[in-house]
Amino acid sequence: MSAFLDIVWEESMPQGADTLLQAAANACVEAEGLTLPVYAQLRVTDDAGIREINRAYRGIDRATDVLSFPSTDCKPNRTLGHCEKKLLPERDETGRCFLGDIVISLPRAREQAAEYGHSLNREFAYLTAHAMFHLMGYDHMRDEDKERMRAMEEKALNRAGIGRVTDDELIALAKEAMQYSYSPYSHFKVGAALLARNGRVFQGCNIENASYGAGNCAERTALFKAVSEGVTEFAAIAIAAEKSMAWPCGICRQVLNEFAPALRVIVSCGDERDEAMLYDLLPHSFGPNTGMLDILGKE
Ligand code: THU
Repeated sequence: MSAFLDIVWEESMPQGADTLLQAAANACVEAEGLTLPVYAQLRVTDDAGIREINRAYRGIDRATDVLSFPSTDCKPNRTLGHCEKKLLPERDETGRCFLGDIVISLPRAREQAAEYGHSLNREFAYLTAHAMFHLMGYDHMRDEDKERMRAMEEKALNRAGIGRVTDDELIALAKEAMQYSYSPYSHFKVGAALLARNGRVFQGCNIENASYGAGNCAERTALFKAVSEGVTEFAAIAIAAEKSMAWPCGICRQVLNEFAPALRVIVSCGDERDEAMLYDLLPHSFGPNTGMLDILGKE
């Protein structure tokens, strides 16, 4: 379903920003799975402008990069996608439901774009996505909430075609890895491409063995390659199989969950594709923060 951004540019607009931010906002509500048409108001101002709003509405007398003021009362454990019909106000005269207000400081966005080495428009799109997810209930106070919010931001930016590695590219890399599948026993070729948060991609294939049980899946091959090179934070994995779509097996779900519960899992076979979040593929998971740590009496 679509989102509309009502943008007020108090500062001069970078070329192409309008359409990009509309696309980013749209991708956010699509990623969240909203079904009602919504809109948000975005004000782009300077440091003095955002400082004044921060002081007046939050009692914090300093400038910041982005502020968001949700109109609904959703929470990280029950974001808007799960309760939109209950929480969203009636459609107003625009024919849409109001999500809330966003304020962005142009000078701050410019500074951050330079710091991260990407374009001002990409930084704007990121800040807009960040604020849109706040408007839909996401937060980053607790580590697990932060992970989920980050994963959704990446999913949305990717959908809007402004991710660092697009889904199409990741799938192509998984297909490339599939060529090297060593599967003389099952004849079921699988390839995986694991995207790390630092932008690196690790490819892997399934490697079988005459003793059957000693074989390894493509996903774990990719993950073990990454971890053995000191990379432990991941955003997404694409899995390509030759004969049918292959969702990760139970063991791979568990192994991936060790490092990235909020991993985006994309499966593909030929032109077909589907995706899910790892935490939805492995509900009530047993992870590094449960179990043995309690027994050992650690934090
Ligand atoms: N396999 C994978 O590599 N990944 C999956 O997601 C499912 C299964 C491999 C394991 C084995 O080599 C072959 O596919 C048949 O099960």
